[in-house]
Amino acid sequence: MKIVVGSDHGGYDLKEALRRRLEEEGHEVQDVGCHGEPVDYPDIAVALCKVVTGGEAEFGILCCGTGIGISMAANKIKGIRAALCADCYSARMAKEHNNANVIAFGGRTIGVEHAWEMVRAYMGAEHLGGIHAKRVAQIDAL
Ligand code: RB5
Repeated sequence: MKIVVGSDHGGYDLKEALRRRLEEEGHEVQDVGCHGEPVDYPDIAVALCKVVTGGEAEFGILCCGTGIGISMAANKIKGIRAALCADCYSARMAKEHNNANVIAFGGRTIGVEHAWEMVRAYMGAEHLGGIHAKRVAQIDAL
């Protein structure tokens, strides 16, 4: 699967850990930075979302210190549905109900193992369509 990852300095260690695990599982991972240096998280959100809306990746993973700022920025971009996840149930629902195309995590608030379980929960889920697709279309039309 083609996946794009990005983070600011606050989410860098988590982004790197998730990137490595995805690559170990054979996924093709594009990394839009950062590389540990201080950056502004909206710039990273824009870079990653362009890859997703351009169809070059099936979904994106964004990390900042809390996951809040970078998901807020991502959700300003047309065509992006970014879900800040802190538990596996929400990560699964982000796909099943909300058809999120970006998931976001806080590098300073969750551990690597927990984040990895959430990535797996999201990737193992399918969008359920039906009434949920109608509601996703309502979001997209806002
Ligand atoms: C950077 O210090 C921090 O503000 C950022 O990583 C993030 O937590 C913002 O929401």
